[in-house]
Amino acid sequence: MESSVGIETVSLAYKKIILGVTGGIAAYKAAELCRLLTKAGADVRVVMTAAAQQFVTPLTFQALSGKPVLTSLWDATSGDGMEHIHLSRDADLLLVAPASADFLAKLAHGRADDLLSTLCLARTCALAVAPAMNREMWAAAPTQRNLEQLRTDGVQLLGPAAGEQACGETGLGRMLEPADILAALPGVLGTCPLAGKRILITAGPTFEAVDPVRGLTNRSSGKMGYAIAQAAAEAGAEVCLVSGPTCLAAPTGVRRIDVQSAAEMHDAVLRELPCDAFIAVAAVADYRVDAAASQKIKKTAGSLTLNLVANPDILADVAALPNAPFCVGFAAETERLAEHAEAKRLKKKLPLLVGNLAQDTLGLDTAELVLFDDQGQHPLPRADKLAQARHLIRHLATLLN
Ligand code: C5P
Repeated sequence: MESSVGIETVSLAYKKIILGVTGGIAAYKAAELCRLLTKAGADVRVVMTAAAQQFVTPLTFQALSGKPVLTSLWDATSGDGMEHIHLSRDADLLLVAPASADFLAKLAHGRADDLLSTLCLARTCALAVAPAMNREMWAAAPTQRNLEQLRTDGVQLLGPAAGEQACGETGLGRMLEPADILAALPGVLGTCPLAGKRILITAGPTFEAVDPVRGLTNRSSGKMGYAIAQAAAEAGAEVCLVSGPTCLAAPTGVRRIDVQSAAEMHDAVLRELPCDAFIAVAAVADYRVDAAASQKIKKTAGSLTLNLVANPDILADVAALPNAPFCVGFAAETERLAEHAEAKRLKKKLPLLVGNLAQDTLGLDTAELVLFDDQGQHPLPRADKLAQARHLIRHLATLLN
């Protein structure tokens, strides 16, 4: 049986959302976001800064939201001139997308010199921002200082994403895709499907020492596991990420435990139990060198034989515990995905397994996945790994609850 888990599962029925649009080329994507929010049932009111109107006209947003767009603090048609107070009192969420570097700086300093910044300061509801800017502007020390301040102030950051930028450069700073912003909103709004749940995740490769300078490892960037940790945290879970060596930073709100070898990962996972769900994303080395050399092995002979012994299967061990948590496995195959993935799921006695073709996923920012559970197969067409992670977390939440 097949079904797809899509963005249409996000419901924002009866939610009042103020969509703030600031001046950046990603403002054109805010039009699509406005359409998605409305489609998901939200009552959307759009506020544009002067700079945003250089990129898209208010008429576009008026047509998509079905309401006049607000652009000025000095609107003579507003009865008492207190639009900035009334609007924010009524809203469930103020979402600024795109949020330019300049707007983030204003927010961090509490400036209130136009309608949108005044609304942000006067609000009583949650505030989320989806930054969008050139990668150097994003990495610049003042921007990072402002972001730190915004996090401290409880502003929720959605993104940015990495990739090709309008200026022709490539890097971190692109606005998250509208569908990904939409998917993050239940977490932002506090309608968190994993609230009160403890989720344990393994990610990245393991590294098995051969001698002090060499080792055996698997190809794994850790991107999928880290995206899942982020999605689980957004969904309200308490997340512990046991990670092999990667270059990635722990997502906000996620507790990370760093390990090197499969044996260390095994110990760390067992120490962190109990949990409600265990998601084993790590590419664990199946074998380690029986006795790693304590000194560097010298290149003396024409050949070298390493004696390998099997590593513990962390997932199988956790799934076999008497009070096993809900266990989710991953299977990266190179062929006959459905057959191998389903066999693995049954062998390790897992309620849910995520399958993908290794050659289509390794190291990339996107993935094409299939979820295998007792109901059958659920394909997730190729998308950004974070978007896939959020689909997986929603599916897990449905099965858990
Ligand atoms: O390597 P294999 O294909 O068996 O991996 C399937 C699942 O089992 C993955 O979720 C992986 O993280 C987990 N696993 C594990 N410990 C191992 C091997 C695999 O937790 N030693």
